[in-house]
This record gives sequence, structure tokens and C-alpha cells, in this order.
Amino acid sequence: MKDIENSIKNSKNLSELEEIRVNLFGKKGIITQGFAKLKELDGEEKKTFAANLNAQRDSLSELLNLKKLEFEQEELNVKMKKEAYDITLFNELSSSGALHPITITMNKIIDYFVSQNFSVEEGPLIEDDFHNFEALNLPKYHPARDMQDTFYFDNGSLLRTHTSPVQIRTMQNQKPPIRMIAPGSVFRRDLDLTHTPMFHQVEGLVVENGNSVSFANLKYMLEDFLIHMFGDVKVRFRPSFFPFTEPSTEVDISCIFCGGKGCRVCSNSGWLEVLGSGIVDPNVFEFVGYKDVSGYAFGLGVERFAMLLHQVPDLRSMFEGDLRLLEQFRW
Ligand code: PHE
Repeated sequence: MKDIENSIKNSKNLSELEEIRVNLFGKKGIITQGFAKLKELDGEEKKTFAANLNAQRDSLSELLNLKKLEFEQEELNVKMKKEAYDITLFNELSSSGALHPITITMNKIIDYFVSQNFSVEEGPLIEDDFHNFEALNLPKYHPARDMQDTFYFDNGSLLRTHTSPVQIRTMQNQKPPIRMIAPGSVFRRDLDLTHTPMFHQVEGLVVENGNSVSFANLKYMLEDFLIHMFGDVKVRFRPSFFPFTEPSTEVDISCIFCGGKGCRVCSNSGWLEVLGSGIVDPNVFEFVGYKDVSGYAFGLGVERFAMLLHQVPDLRSMFEGDLRLLEQFRW
């Protein structure tokens, strides 16, 4: 009995232990055979033999179970140690992520306007003709629609070509005064060195009751914004045309690469075009049911800002996901 107990205690692993268990409790095991022997005994002798055998069976199986538990625990400990992660560990191969240059630029733009009390509005990417064109003073078959080559769906809906429809939706849902920007992706059928079928815009709209909004307000705000984005630049407004604003202007900054002297990036003009803007056309207000209001609007392409800020020469590289480009934007 002592021998068996010792062999259990000294067993080295689960399979050794299993062998001992079979030797005791298997078909031909010592304890099993002992019970078989009971048949051959009678009376008092049978009683004591049985009592002994039961006691042995109980104590041995308890011992076996305890030892088994011990092995299982050990095994678990080894496994846990092997699989443990040291989250404080740092090695050369670990690398942090990075925000995409478009996101970085978008955030910088949004930060400015939020600081100036603009709300940030969103709208659907799939638009209808009314919100994307008609309400923006772009009637069907108007030649100005060609400025924005459009992806249409069979049912007549379309991928928004600018975020201006968000301004229409905001005016439909809110009363003036309004002070909002609409950041987001837009889509046009265009692909070359400087155009991709999807790009990002931030457009803004300010509407006040009465005729208190003037071009001077627009000019002040955009100059302040462009200096926030590009540092110490000169800003110039050029007359232009947009169907939804009148008067309309395109806005240039002095070239940030040559300081206005003229270089390859600014085609030797000394200026870089960065924005479209203007005083909201009264027709637009009519479409959304606004009366006796005045306002200004502006719109910009985020990719263009990102390319200028981070000196990325090819627009397409913004969307190729090449790690060599993206890694340069790691914090
Ligand atoms: N919606 C114009 C575009 O996408 C940008 C713009 C907005 C111009 C507001 C003027 C005023 O081209």
C-alpha cells in the first residue's frame, strides 16, 4: 500500500499517473481484482476484506485525483507563461500608426472653423438632383453643370459632386442665422495628374437675417483662415463664376514655395489658387424658403491643401496606400 502511495506521489507526469491508475482500477487492476476476489469469501472475513478494500480504493483514488490536479495546474502555468504578452515590452520592430495626410489636413481645417463657432454638418453621399444642382441655381441642361462631371445612378440619383447639398439640407432644416461647414468626400468623373474620381471638400456657409453679411466679412474670415493654414501668406481675390454665388471669387495665396517670386509649382505666377467663394445668390435662398437674409459661402479641396502643406507632388499618391508615403506622417 505504502509503495503504491509513494509511486503516485513520485510520478513525474500525467501519463505515468495514468499508468498507475490503470494498474489499480483498470480491468486487471489490483483493486478491481480485489473486488473480484470478494466472491470467494464469506462471513466476517468478507466483511473486513471489503471494508479494507473500500478504504484503499477511496484513499488511492483521492491521491490520484490530487496528483492529477497538480499536474494539470503545472501544465496550465507553463502554457500561460509561454503565451503571456508583456505589454510593457518595446522593441525596434514595433511601429505606431499614422493619420493619413488628408485626415491631418481636414482636422486642421475643421479646428479653425470650430474655433470660429461654425457647426460641422454632414449629409448623404448619394444625392438627388434637387439638392446637388437645382437648389444651387443649376437648372437642368444649364452649361455650368459641365463644371462638375457627374456619376449618375439609373434611378436619377447621383454621387454628390460637391458638399454644397449639405448646405441646402441644413438651410431646409434650420432657421437663420447659420454658420456651418460641410466636410466630406465628393465624386466627379475625372482622372489625371491633378484629379481623382473621389476627393474631399470642406465647404462653408454663413447666413444672417437682414443684409448684414457683406463681402468684407467673407474676405476677413478667409484671410484669417488661410494664414492659420499656411502661415504668413498674401491673399488675393479674383472675380470668377459659380452658379450659387454672386459675386463669385476665386482666392489665391502667394506661393508658399517661392514666396511669390515665381517657381515651377505656381507656374511662375507667384500665386496658388486655393478656394472658391462668393456671396450667396438670392435664387438659392428662394429655393430653401429663406426671406430677407444675406450670406456668404466658400469651398475648398482638401487634397490640394494637403499637397501644398506637405509638399506631395502627385495627387494620386494620396490614394495608393504606399507605406513609404504614409510613414512620413507618423507622430
Ligand atoms: N461648390 C463649389 C465646387 O465644388 C465650391 C464653392 C462653394 C464655390 C461655395 C463657391 C462657393 O466647385
